[in-house]
Parts: sequence; structure tokens; C-alpha cells
Amino acid sequence: YVRELLPEVNSVAKSGPLQLDNLARMVKAVVLGAAGGIGQPLSLLLKANPLVTELALYDIVNTPGVAADLSHIATPAKVEGYLPPDDGLKKTLTGADIVVIPAGVPRKPGMTRDDLFKINAGIVKGLATGIATTAPKAFVLVISNPVNSTVPIVAEVFKKLGVFDPKRLFGVTTLDVVRASTFVSEVLGNLALSKEIVVPVVGGHSGVTIVPLLSQSSHPLPSSFSKDQYDALVKRVQFGGDEVVKAKDGAGSATLSMAYAGAEFATKVIRAIKGEKGIVAPSYVSLEADTAGGSALAKELDTQIAFFSSNVELGPEGVVKIHPLGKITEAEQALVKAAIPELTKNIDTGVNFVAEAY
Ligand code: NAD
Ligand code: LMR
Repeated sequence: YVRELLPEVNSVAKSGPLQLDNLARMVKAVVLGAAGGIGQPLSLLLKANPLVTELALYDIVNTPGVAADLSHIATPAKVEGYLPPDDGLKKTLTGADIVVIPAGVPRKPGMTRDDLFKINAGIVKGLATGIATTAPKAFVLVISNPVNSTVPIVAEVFKKLGVFDPKRLFGVTTLDVVRASTFVSEVLGNLALSKEIVVPVVGGHSGVTIVPLLSQSSHPLPSSFSKDQYDALVKRVQFGGDEVVKAKDGAGSATLSMAYAGAEFATKVIRAIKGEKGIVAPSYVSLEADTAGGSALAKELDTQIAFFSSNVELGPEGVVKIHPLGKITEAEQALVKAAIPELTKNIDTGVNFVAEAY
């Protein structure tokens, strides 16, 4: 009955022998920053996910209204909305399995993601402290920019509080992957293909740190594709966020596509928690999450970088395996090389921020 009712449950079941304990597991999902441009549609998509049994929404404004609205949707998740007074963050996080963080300010034209650091670093540090205290075992998915620095902030806060598990911390880079699929499908003149196209995007989540591995695309580029066309496509993936910031003209950055991407990644994590095997998705993770995979990747990168986005296999306890980049072209090697100094700087900024705060 359940299998017929819920295709997602069916897909967990199809991936291998049923682990009834995992499958029957209730999943409490939390969104921090739930009343915002990303937070609201992301909460909607999580409410629509039948694998979520409880959905707790937290923001400094409007969450009771958002929660009341979503609670009328006929899906299993029980929805609650909390505000800061009366221990709202603690109530939100109690019993959380997965916490998605889109809290923080977005860019306006002319700004870089790093310009957001001043405000968002403090917001993320505060929320990370709450998670480390109330739900230290939850999977934490960070959307707030600059992701290259906010993820190390969460890691450092967890380390300071003695609860860091690198397998459970993820920077959400899925929007870059979604964009790469869409833009490649446009090049191939067939948008209908976009859902099938898989292009690994590695590195980090800003400008030159975003490295699409187009040579590994499931659907190769046309053989007539010139170097100029290739460079333009890489640039479009790297600076796709700017396209949206410019078009929104001061009203923020990507929200709807980000909610779609965030829900896609969160769903993969939830499926892994429920016991589905073999789920692989690119994410920005600590290389400590899988020391063998992490050091193989560091060797490929020829640097001891602490965080990097790569294809990651997910399991019920978090990261199972960090995949190496594999065979890449000379042009891609040059992109990776260019990403590393910027990424290293961004990571240090996050780490130093927390070190100075304690
Ligand atoms: P938004 O301003 O529309 O929403 C942010 C929400 O965060 C607001 O509702 C605000 O009240 C809330 N907030 C602020 N401080 C908070 C706190 N201490 N606790 C809880 N909530 C708090 O912004 P948005 O467009 O939703 O973007 C949010 C963030 O996501 C930005 O930093 C943006 O740059 C980032 N982003 C990341 C990606 C990515 O690919 N990772 C993509 C798009 C946007
Ligand atoms: C994006 O890639 O769309 C986000 O990181 C938001 C931004 O500032 O571009």
C-alpha cells in the first residue's frame, strides 16, 4: 500500500534490500530562514515531499504565517513555525534530522558573494551554535552565501563545541549543477533533455571556484563546439548567479531555482537517511568526511585544501565516499588550478572568523 502510494518510498525499496528500520524512520526537516525568498518555496517543496513527516520553520519574521499556510497542504508532514522569542530556535531544532539554512542577505547588482560575509557570517555562526547545542547529529545543508566560507564557519563552531562530524555537513552547490544541465541542454537545442543531463560541477560556489567538468557530461557537447563557445559556456555556469542578480535589478538573487535545487539535494540526503543505496551528488564537503577519498582528491588537486565540492556518495550516516575528479581535460585542470587559491582564501576567512569570535 505504502509503495503504491509513495513513489519515493518505492525508489528506496528498489535500490536494495529493504532496511525496515530506516524506511520506517520519521524525518524531521528544518528550514532556518524559512520566511525568505528561498525559504518559502523550499519549505513548500519539502512539505510536498512525502518522506518528510515533520517540518519546522524558523526565521526572525513571519514563520507562523508561512507554517499555517503550508499546514493546509494534504501531505504527511506536520508543520510548525517558530520565531526567536521563547526559545524558538531550540523548539525548531529539537529532534531535527536535516537542517537546511537559507538564512541571510542576498546580493544586489555590483556585489560579490564575499560582500555578504560581514552580515551572513554572524547569522550562520549563531544558527550553527543553535544546531550544535540542540541537534548536533542533524545533517546540515548550508545555502547561505558565501558558501565557500559559511560551511567552514559551521564546521569551526561545531569543533569548538566538540560535536563536529564532517560526514554530516554539506555546502549546497546543486544550483550550479542544475544550471550546467540546463545550459548544456540549451546548447544541444533540447530543453527536454535537461532533466537527464548530468554534468559534475566541482570546486566551490562562487565565480572561478565553480568548475564545470563538461568533458564528463552525460551528454557530450557538439563536436563542432569551438574553444570560444566552450569558454563562454564555462563562464555562464560560473557566473549564472550574476545573470539572475542583474535581471532582478536590486530585488535579490536566485530564489526559485535555488529552492528547486535545495529541495533536490535535501531529498537525496533524506533518501540516503532512509536507506537508499548509491546516491551520488556533488556537494561542498570537508575532505575529512572520507579521509581515504579526501586524501585521494587532495592528491589529485595537489594541495591540502580543507573543503572542496566533488561527487559525494551519501548514506544513512552521511558522506560514505568522496569521489576523485577522475579524468579531466587540460582546460579543466587549468580551471581547477585557478579555483584553489580563491577557495583557500575563502575557507581561511571563515575559519579565522570563528577563531576570532571565541
Ligand atoms: P531573503 O532575504 O529573501 O531571505 C533570507 C531570510 O533569512 C529572511 O526571511 C530573513 O528574515 C532570514 N534571516 C535573517 N537573519 C536570520 C536569522 N538570524 N535567523 C533566521 N533567519 C534569518 O534572501 P534569499 O534570497 O532567500 O537568500 C538567502 C541566502 O541564500 C543569501 O545569502 C543568498 O546569497 C543565498 N543563496 C545561495 C545560493 C546557493 O547556491 N548556495 C543560491 C541563492 C542564494
Ligand atoms: C546563485 O548562484 O544564484 C547564488 O549564489 C546567489 C548569488 O548571489 O548569485
